[in-house]
Amino acid sequence: MQEKLEEVKAQAQAELAQASDEVSLQNLKAKFLGRKGVITEILKGMKDVAKEDRPKMGVMINEVKTFVEELFDQKANQIKEEKKRRSIAEEKIDATLPSRSLSVGARHPVSQVMEEIINIFEKMGFEVAEGPEIETDYYNFEALNIPKNHPARDMQDTFYISDDVVLRTHTSPVQIRVMEKEEPPIKIIAPGRVYRCDSDVSHTPMFHQIEGLLIDKDITFGDLKGVLTEFLRLIFGEGIGVRFRPSFFPFTEPSAEVDIECVICEGQGCRVCKESGWLEILGCGMVDPEVFKSVNYDPEIYSGFAFGMGIERITMLKFGINDIRLFFENDVRFLRQFV
Ligand code: FA5
Ligand code: MG
Repeated sequence: MQEKLEEVKAQAQAELAQASDEVSLQNLKAKFLGRKGVITEILKGMKDVAKEDRPKMGVMINEVKTFVEELFDQKANQIKEEKKRRSIAEEKIDATLPSRSLSVGARHPVSQVMEEIINIFEKMGFEVAEGPEIETDYYNFEALNIPKNHPARDMQDTFYISDDVVLRTHTSPVQIRVMEKEEPPIKIIAPGRVYRCDSDVSHTPMFHQIEGLLIDKDITFGDLKGVLTEFLRLIFGEGIGVRFRPSFFPFTEPSAEVDIECVICEGQGCRVCKESGWLEILGCGMVDPEVFKSVNYDPEIYSGFAFGMGIERITMLKFGINDIRLFFENDVRFLRQFV
């Protein structure tokens, strides 16, 4: 029996020396220490041993068992260490490799200019108002004195959602929404997105406007011109050419549009300004009495002015951008120039 046990020890040592991974180690463990393993078999043989020899035999077997178990533990540790060493060697990090640079985002040029314009008007005491981009025909047209089937509707190429619902073509419906809720004096601006079926170097189907509305007693066209002239001086500086040109809007009377000298061609004429040397940035005028009627204001008591400016156009002129569509292509090479 003793001999057999010595043999088991030697055999376990020899076979373990060969084992190089966890699977073969598990197999060997089953072979020596498992329920049907070599050592269990020897234990079963105890019944044939003389009773007085059994305790001694038991001690011996346990010694061998402990010995073999320790061997396995050692080997298992060894395999684990080996695996760790190997993975450290393989997954080595090359600290000299240049890192991938993180690019930092920035405000879109249109957002930057929008913010600048809002700041100027806030300093003049205007408050910011908002309205929905999906608007009813009533607010976008009817209440602004643009009846159905009236030729004035052709001025703005509209995206219709249904007969009575449209994507707003301008920010002017916010005028009506504010006047319905509040009594004069009113002094608001309303920035936001608007939509028209338009596309060329100076028109996109979605663009931004800022509406302005000031209503009180004794407001004149002089007030309108004063506010807008001061605004233009603050946004463009002193040197730029500005002109007020008579125009028509169904919701203002009299009406005007403001053109800025085209910075792309310095007024010589190019594709951006359609060879005119000027780029239109806004429409404005004295609020038409018909509009006051639709919100129940008395035109005998109150008067006021309104304006609506195109933010992309102003941004083009400020930065010398020669195609409005560049704003919405999301090409970072373009956008990075305005960080
Ligand atoms: C209007 O939208 C009027 N609601 C403005 C107004 C408000 C007049 C209050 C009187 C009182 P107009 O269609 O001209 O007007 O557009 C105003 C400005 O938006 C234009 O001067 C131009 O700068 C800009 N704009 C118009 N269409 C486009 C477009 N498709 N893409 C980019 N900018 C545009
Ligand atoms: Mg116009």
